[in-house]
Amino acid sequence: MSGTLYGLGVGPGDPELVTLKALRILRALPVVAYPAPPEGTSFARSVIASHLSPAQTEIAIRVPMTRSVAPAQAVYDRAAIEIGGHLDAGRDVGVLCQGDPFFYGSFIQLFERLAAGYPTRVVPGVSSLTACAAAAGLPLVTRDEMLTVLPATLPEAELEKRLKQAGAAAILKLGRHLPKVRRILKRLGLVDRATYVEHASLESQKVMPLEAVDPASAPYFSMILLRCCRSVPGSSCWGPARCRSRGVSSANCAARKSSRLKPARWASSGRCSERGGRSSGSAPRGS
Ligand SMILES: C[S@@+](CC[C@H](N)C(=O)[O-])C[C@H]1O[C@@H](n2cnc3c(N)ncnc32)[C@H](O)[C@@H]1O
Repeated sequence: MSGTLYGLGVGPGDPELVTLKALRILRALPVVAYPAPPEGTSFARSVIASHLSPAQTEIAIRVPMTRSVAPAQAVYDRAAIEIGGHLDAGRDVGVLCQGDPFFYGSFIQLFERLAAGYPTRVVPGVSSLTACAAAAGLPLVTRDEMLTVLPATLPEAELEKRLKQAGAAAILKLGRHLPKVRRILKRLGLVDRATYVEHASLESQKVMPLEAVDPASAPYFSMILLRCCRSVPGSSCWGPARCRSRGVSSANCAARKSSRLKPARWASSGRCSERGGRSSGSAPRGS
């Protein structure tokens, strides 16, 4: 009988955000695989390192960071063959995945290659999306609001089109794409509505208004969150003054409502004023 393939979400980085289920399964696995850079340590492995035992066989899947997808695809092809060998021998294999395996997770590469041939289970993890919202003290969506999730890797025109239509939005995979995203948000008059979150849940976590970010310094593990007015579906309404200009009462302005929460990072004037009045800097580490 073949072994089972497990996709194990390990969360955004804080080891306390690994689920009990992922840990229970991890400890019982004979083989543990994880994505890793061409050299150096795997982020996903580092999150659960203290729970690994020397008896476990480890497979580091060293994924090249190239713009072309072909080299990475070849690496996943080879990893699928190696993992398939363990599964054929009856050994269960867990593949660690940062955040949630099915939310832009690298595990999907192996799922697509192996799930049709082997019993497969996926253990969800705390995703970066919810971790960043928690770190920023910024609700993502409520009631009938809609959330658009966008990879910053999209072409500029496509990103701009989607952001024009978005209610609330999360922009992932920033890194070297940050200057492009900032250009778009400036054109749309949305920069002062954008919250930047870096390394959510880690000691190195940073939360700040997008205006305060050095575009050259954004790491890959960063995200921009935007929130607008739920009462204007499909509009680009980003605050009480603009709500008023569109005939929406300030009582229905989601940005105004959430400003009552006054997250620690904002100055006492609140983030909802059209002219900002916001402070920059790091927020307290998320839980
Ligand atoms: C390939 S996606 C993987 C997402 C992951 N599977 C999840 O569920 O969060 C990588 C992107 O997720 C975001 N991300 C992941 N972890 C993060 C963190 N701790 N803080 C901020 N953004 C993070 C970044 O935008 C990064 O570029």
